[in-house]
Amino acid sequence: MDLHHRPSHPLTTIKAGIADAFASLPAGEGGIARPKFKLFDDESPIVTVKQNFDDLLAPPDHVMRQPSDTFYVDEERLLRCHTSAHQTEKLREGNTAFLVAADCYRRDEIDATHYPVFHQVEGLRVFGPDELPPGLPCDATHPETRDFVCRDLRACLDHMVDGLFGADVERKWSDDYFPFTDPSFELEIQYNGKWLELLGCGMVHRDIMTNCGLGDRVGWAFGIGLERVAMARFGIPDIRLFWTDDERFHKQFDGSMDTRFESYSKYPPCNKDVAFWTPPGLHANDVYETIRETAGDLVESVELIDEFTHPKTGRHSTCYRVCYRSMDRSLTNAEVDLLQEQVRDRLSNFLGVELR
Ligand code: PHE
Repeated sequence: MDLHHRPSHPLTTIKAGIADAFASLPAGEGGIARPKFKLFDDESPIVTVKQNFDDLLAPPDHVMRQPSDTFYVDEERLLRCHTSAHQTEKLREGNTAFLVAADCYRRDEIDATHYPVFHQVEGLRVFGPDELPPGLPCDATHPETRDFVCRDLRACLDHMVDGLFGADVERKWSDDYFPFTDPSFELEIQYNGKWLELLGCGMVHRDIMTNCGLGDRVGWAFGIGLERVAMARFGIPDIRLFWTDDERFHKQFDGSMDTRFESYSKYPPCNKDVAFWTPPGLHANDVYETIRETAGDLVESVELIDEFTHPKTGRHSTCYRVCYRSMDRSLTNAEVDLLQEQVRDRLSNFLGVELR
């Protein structure tokens, strides 16, 4: 649906806010000029397992490789689960400072902040020998070079946070782990009284640089989720709203960063429970995905509310509560009953569970 290309869509505005921040970076340490960041925002969402995982040094048992977490097209291709999937091809093409904005796909739980499609912006910067302070070797193992690259990364991201949230927003940096960066960090900010995980980042792993023919260079990268930023910044309460056609939503956004979303009337929720015997190996994400496929955006959340193991047979039973609520209108009980019936059918015929 190309949401981040639609004029005035909140995701487009956040994407533009990030691109603006990288176009207006102040000079680096010692007055070193910053490169121009090229924006790629039209890459195909279908990438190879190699691009999404192997090239990024994801270990063979990494959870995101599993079909329960990622949407596979076939054995070699999948819907990218992060914009990092484009790092190595962009590096091999010779880009040394770029942003990639794109839709990303993950199988996940269902609630107000999770949706199978979301958007990210990736940023990556490569330094050549003449872009480092005098005397620092272009060597990813050299402690002072590492410190310099990490300081530069922080300075750039601080500038981006200033632009997105304001210069006085409180920030917390902590160590993190990603297979493709070393060292790796997470940035949280304090916004609306809550700590918000904003992004992951770090120094590009030297093996990736080497594999892309850049063994004599160093660099940094980050990835930031756009929905999270837009929800916090504009006060959007439910991630499904990004996908609505409702004018009451869209007419509130005009491309300004200062929009404060005013919720229009909330329609009543309708809860329905479904319980079944759980076959071994069934992943909760399969249940969520089946429900989402059947009932679409009318599902607000799905919650595991009960589970038990039968003392004699050892069989395992789970009960999920499906909360139905439309963003645009009141649902009738009859309509929800019908949906729930379809959900039950699909769970039993498609996932093969025994309903209780
Ligand atoms: N790809 C990571 C994620 O989706 C974020 C990231 C990007 C981390 C680049 C480090 C460097 O969580």
